[in-house]
Amino acid sequence: MAIEIRNGAEEDIAAAVNVISTAFLERPDIPRIVTAMREVWDPSRMWLAWDGPTACGTFRSWGTEITLPGLGRLPASAVSAVTVLPTHRRRGILTQMAAAEHRALRERGEAMALLYASEFGIYGRFGYGPATRSATWTVDLTRTRIPGPPEDGGTVELATPDPAVRDEVRRVYEEWHPSRVGQLRRRDFTWDLRLGLKEEPWGDTWKGWLALHRDGDGRIDGFARYKAQPSWEGHVPKTALEVQELVGLTEASEAALWAFLGSVDLVASLKAEGLSPSDRLPWRLANGRAAQLSDLGDGLWVRLFDVPRSLAARSYEREGSVVLDVVDEDAAGGRWRVALEAGPDGATCATTSRSADLTLSVAALGSVYLGAHDLRDVALRAQVDEHRDGALARAAGLFRTAREPWCATFF
Ligand SMILES: CC(C)(COP(=O)(O)OP(=O)(O)OC[C@H]1O[C@@H](n2cnc3c(N)ncnc32)[C@H](O)[C@@H]1OP(=O)(O)O)[C@@H](O)C(=O)NCCC(=O)NCCS
Repeated sequence: MAIEIRNGAEEDIAAAVNVISTAFLERPDIPRIVTAMREVWDPSRMWLAWDGPTACGTFRSWGTEITLPGLGRLPASAVSAVTVLPTHRRRGILTQMAAAEHRALRERGEAMALLYASEFGIYGRFGYGPATRSATWTVDLTRTRIPGPPEDGGTVELATPDPAVRDEVRRVYEEWHPSRVGQLRRRDFTWDLRLGLKEEPWGDTWKGWLALHRDGDGRIDGFARYKAQPSWEGHVPKTALEVQELVGLTEASEAALWAFLGSVDLVASLKAEGLSPSDRLPWRLANGRAAQLSDLGDGLWVRLFDVPRSLAARSYEREGSVVLDVVDEDAAGGRWRVALEAGPDGATCATTSRSADLTLSVAALGSVYLGAHDLRDVALRAQVDEHRDGALARAAGLFRTAREPWCATFF
């Protein structure tokens, strides 16, 4: 029987959750998830694959906005819940669902799609490239202090989450994400889950601590969420404090929050997952070697759909121009031939009939789009052909940024 791809309706939520949890090898409380999902379910952004009466695939997205080099922002589609039942794998069902969502995305006018990949080999064929990196930092507090910021009247306090506190935390994040390259606008409902104000339908409800930083005028300008699992060895406290999220609007608030976390009694180490490998954390420590990096891997993946608009929306740290022939099966004629005039104050990018300096896949372009990677490295795996001597090095220099982009929002 042919597989049919359709948008989800409200009565399909339970079937969708069954496919998602089966593909991710989880056995959650499905009725609880169905109740929770009703509130956030956007049927027009949920695709289901049907084999007759049986749901066998899901593909979901939500609308966000990403901050680009130069602090421009573009609407993007955040893709998640990409699953196919083990009985239906490798029959092209994901390929069909991706095509349906990509068509809808272009109609909605979103410039790009974003995702986190469960496995590296899945998404390159659909034009996605790994565009940020993610890592775990561990700080051995037996070997270092974390000095605070210079005295400026700022204070750190613990807060019990309630709706008013949630709104303050959300306000801080909403001021922060437009000022950091690679960060995303989040959906309102996530704050209730992040702060334990609502039951987490997929797992344990959050039960950590929330630290708030106030500046000298008493305004909240930073927060940290953390938890811990107390442990002792030979009568010595060995607890690792898990830093789940730390956001500060100023350097002083970030420094004060790290210093606070590093000062909590009975704690032997801090562990922070999902940070940038080039986070400034080691530089905050009296002994930089007390910070160790692990679990280094790819973070956010980017798939550009509107290439001229996307390239014109970011800025570039150097002046330069390049003609790119971007191979993209979703573009008219399977390609975008664009002339990019780039610089620190902005860029223009328009389709052109001039001959190309470089031909590259849309996945390769996605990998360098936010500035994390050097196009010469990307060229080792993805398609990048140089037609003019020096064009690859020039383009690599244009796209790369001195500060590594990073995305704090996993979805
Ligand atoms: C990943 C998943 C959605 C793929 O679905 P699918 O319907 O089997 O994919 P398709 O049949 O459309 O595959 C298209 C191509 O991608 C390849 N592919 C699919 N999954 C792959 C994987 N995990 N690793 C490498 N290649 C993969 C297929 O081999 C196929 O290649 P081909 O065109 O050369 O034959 C499915 O296996 C799944 O649900 N996995 C578990 C959950 C998961 O990891 N989801 C992704 C979350 S980010």
